[in-house]
Amino acid sequence: MCGIVGYTGKLNAVEVVLSGLRKLEYRGYDSAGIAMLHDCSMDVLRAVGRVDALARKTANISYVPHNAIGHTRWASHGRPSEINAHPHCDNTGQIAVVHNGIVENYSTLRSELLQSGAKFLSETDTEVAAVLIGHLYKGNLVEAVIQATQRFEGTFALGVVCIDHPDMIVGARRGPPLAVGAADDGAMMLASDALPILPYTRNVCYLEDNQIVALQPGKMELYANGVQIEARLQKICWTAEESERGGYRHYMLKEIYEQPAVLRRLAANLVANAGSLSPVSPPTFNLDNFPLNNDALRKLSRVVIVAQGTAFHAGLIGRNMIERTVRIPVSVEYGSDFQYRDPVIDPSVLVISVSQSGETADTLGAVRLAKERGCTTLAIINTVGSTIARESHGVIYMHAGLEIGVASTKAFTAQIAALYVLAIHIGLQRGTLSDADAVRRVADLLQVASRVDEALACAEQVKAVALKYKDSANALFLGRGTGFPLALEGALKLKEISYVHAEGYDAAEMKHGPIALIDERMPVIVLALKGRRYDKIISNIQEVKARGGRVIVIASHDDTEIADKVDDVIRVHDDRGIMNSIVCAIPFQLFAYEIAVARNCDVDKPRNLAKSLTIE
Ligand code: G6P
Repeated sequence: MCGIVGYTGKLNAVEVVLSGLRKLEYRGYDSAGIAMLHDCSMDVLRAVGRVDALARKTANISYVPHNAIGHTRWASHGRPSEINAHPHCDNTGQIAVVHNGIVENYSTLRSELLQSGAKFLSETDTEVAAVLIGHLYKGNLVEAVIQATQRFEGTFALGVVCIDHPDMIVGARRGPPLAVGAADDGAMMLASDALPILPYTRNVCYLEDNQIVALQPGKMELYANGVQIEARLQKICWTAEESERGGYRHYMLKEIYEQPAVLRRLAANLVANAGSLSPVSPPTFNLDNFPLNNDALRKLSRVVIVAQGTAFHAGLIGRNMIERTVRIPVSVEYGSDFQYRDPVIDPSVLVISVSQSGETADTLGAVRLAKERGCTTLAIINTVGSTIARESHGVIYMHAGLEIGVASTKAFTAQIAALYVLAIHIGLQRGTLSDADAVRRVADLLQVASRVDEALACAEQVKAVALKYKDSANALFLGRGTGFPLALEGALKLKEISYVHAEGYDAAEMKHGPIALIDERMPVIVLALKGRRYDKIISNIQEVKARGGRVIVIASHDDTEIADKVDDVIRVHDDRGIMNSIVCAIPFQLFAYEIAVARNCDVDKPRNLAKSLTIE
């Protein structure tokens, strides 16, 4: 998703902005650009491809600008090209604009502007925004931005500069996030998240919707709905070091290996009495922001989980956990569909959103609709202070740390763990889970990190298997029960980062269609742990083998018989409940990673993908 960085201060603004844009690369982008102010003039440079291509262009400038705005673009309107890359300028060339989001009424505005003589060079909605701001500009940049944004429908985070105000950056937000930072030396920054700001200051303020900010060295003026208000800066607690790769070849690999630590931290944060659990001392949880008291919890009629992508798969696993534990119906919905389908919900429904970024527009739309319909909303979120977290009635933070790899890994297992805690909490309050069972389940949670450590120890074996199949053009992932969402996630990981066409199916569903695809070129990755459905899974494996398919299984550590029936076995130390869903995610993540590396794919910046999708 597009990224914005702006800097005004004493340092070389080009260096600050380029290094900030590199920190936003994880969001996904296809072109980059920068506007630099110097004396009473402005230069705009743009390049298709990576920030490095832009850096090569800026290397030729002969002055040191102290005010610049930069952008990485993820194409929405108009293909990736230099002409469509941001910044875009107004018709006088005095004003430059960078933008994340979509101005939905841009074609109406464009027609109006064309009628009054405006000209356009690109196909983008952003150029319309720039031209409109230029049209409304009468010497006061803040006023022009306020007036222009009043005319925009849709979403935007904007950074605007103008040569008449050579040390000023104006920012505006409706939808996509925009943070501002104030450094001790007076420098001011603007960025799509705090990462580019952190090397200079931890004092950050996230703009709310419909706020506009004017930044000048030593001066920050914030406006809400056109009226000036006080800006409240908060201290960001994570460090700039967290954004480094820490010796790993890719962020994704680092994040895969962070999972034991994340799960230990999550359990320690959420379980209040981990040290004194016993059947007479059932678990209690640190859920300070839980939006329902016990009485309201008992009156719940059902639960709807809304999420997208990987978080949706975690939601499917959460559904199984909550239904089994609480015995109330749970459905899992794509927020994108839910918010427009006129779903049947009422105030007795708890709507749980699951999101790593807390900014996904589809999920946010579903949360807003649920609130409108009187539902209680609870968010399971990684990014503290994100929009969904702020707008929901309650929030459970996963504290998985910054996740930079576009393919989500540690957030996925943390989401599962948080949903697991939630299921136990609701089960205890509603009396569907005995104290003894709750104690046993929390004991499992406290052990899961060690099981993940064991699963990570199989990395070399997973790599060997992955290398055998690295040239396959397709792959099928199968599982039953909770294995089904894991199969979906395994397939998603593989397609996201290695561009291998992969499908996840419920193993039982295979015979209803996908079986037609099976031949000796089709690797089929099957989750086949010993358990209730083991015999049925073995039958499904035999159906694949009978048609010449090649079968890789994720099997229980003590399954001595399965090796004869399949081509490759990856073993995990399985147990029950939460153990299995979290532990089995590890080989799938590693498998996708190793195949992507073997195919020379850009693991952390997969083509076309964005980490945080703030548009619908
Ligand atoms: C994008 C990302 C996925 C992520 C999904 C939901 O598609 O590429 O990795 O799972 O958005 O993101 P969220 O931040 O809401 O979990």
